[in-house]
Amino acid sequence: MKKVLSIMMVCLMLIGLVGCSSKEVTDTSSTQTNNTEVNSQVSSGDADITADSTSPDSSDTASGNTSSTAESPDSKEPEKDETPAEPEVFLKDLYAEYGMKAGTCLTTQMITNKKYNDLILSQFSSITMENAMKPDSILNKTKSQETGKIVIEFNKDVIKMLDWAKENGMAVRGHTIVWYSQTPDWIFREGFVQGGELVGREEMLARLDSMMSQIFGQLKELGYIDLFYAYDVINEAWMEDGTKRENNWLKTIGDDYMWQAFYYADKYAPESIDLYYNDYNEQFKTATFVNFVKTLVDDSGRYLIDGIGLQAHLYTNDSLPQYLGMLDTLSETGLKLEITELDVSLGAWQNTLKGTPENLAKQGRFYYELISGIIERINAGTLKMDSITFWGFSDNLSWRREAKPLLFDAVQKKKPAFYGAAQLRDLAGY
Ligand code: GLA
Repeated sequence: MKKVLSIMMVCLMLIGLVGCSSKEVTDTSSTQTNNTEVNSQVSSGDADITADSTSPDSSDTASGNTSSTAESPDSKEPEKDETPAEPEVFLKDLYAEYGMKAGTCLTTQMITNKKYNDLILSQFSSITMENAMKPDSILNKTKSQETGKIVIEFNKDVIKMLDWAKENGMAVRGHTIVWYSQTPDWIFREGFVQGGELVGREEMLARLDSMMSQIFGQLKELGYIDLFYAYDVINEAWMEDGTKRENNWLKTIGDDYMWQAFYYADKYAPESIDLYYNDYNEQFKTATFVNFVKTLVDDSGRYLIDGIGLQAHLYTNDSLPQYLGMLDTLSETGLKLEITELDVSLGAWQNTLKGTPENLAKQGRFYYELISGIIERINAGTLKMDSITFWGFSDNLSWRREAKPLLFDAVQKKKPAFYGAAQLRDLAGY
């Protein structure tokens, strides 16, 4: 009987492994990115679909305890791991030495899967919800229509992840409030009705005021406010040519809508939460940001903003000197900078490359040099940065999975990219 059982176990494991790898091969939903199109992909909720479609609960537990076992299903003696022991290094401890948190984006699927959950807890000290705190997830249409006032309501996923953060001592970045994407159109309309007339400036300012008051007020009432150290007040409002992106905030409130957003966020957020403007293609929008943040001051000249969030959706062909130069230029504003959504795709935009050893090595060196450039600047006292958040950890969960942009491969084996981010030069593709 024992023998039969163990044969069955082995069969089950093999089925699990095949399932896992074939998922990898057939999962081609990742989208290409574009300096201007990043957002349409985002708005379509790719990230969510990506995370959900990987069925972490089944595929990954089935892939075995160690990544090496999972990668070589044919190995004769699975109990004997011949790969050299990987050095124990934890990003959260390393980055803490420089006053930074190490972050990842988070979905509920990740915390219900033991393997992902353990990896996150060992490597990271901060989380950003990938989608659950975006406007379309926190605004309640029915209640807004019933009461005639805009209603914010955090759903059970938010509460689940905040409880988890509390239990595990994780810090949280809030993401995001004023955005053109993943934002329901009805919030800009008379009676909160799709297709209704756009409301005027005064009404939209009142709604903005109310949204800020409810977000920070409810997080306080619910006992979560102390988890938050940063909040993205506005996401992706500037274009590469220095013009404001067309959106309904601009249409209803007018030219000063971003100032108003920071004014109301500053009114309700506690001092302990830094308020951020967050955007992508930061290395091409640098001058725009410098001019913009200068306008975000109150009557006494005090900044209403605390920092600039740099999404850092990068490519291995990007110029690192340009990226690091951008950090120097933005630091002159005196504001904090945070890396908020870091991933480094293989290749270039519209020309992503395969995960060959050479390409993965180049990616490792890219991560190494990016992080060492940041550490040098922190040590020199020229950069104020208190967190680096990666947009996930495992390639199979990434919104850009085809371009393999993250630190761990599809079976959570450390890539040269991980060692680069962990500053272990010898293992980082050199
Ligand atoms: C943008 C957004 C993120 C996320 C990513 C794609 O960078 O700020 O919230 O949607 O795109 O996953």
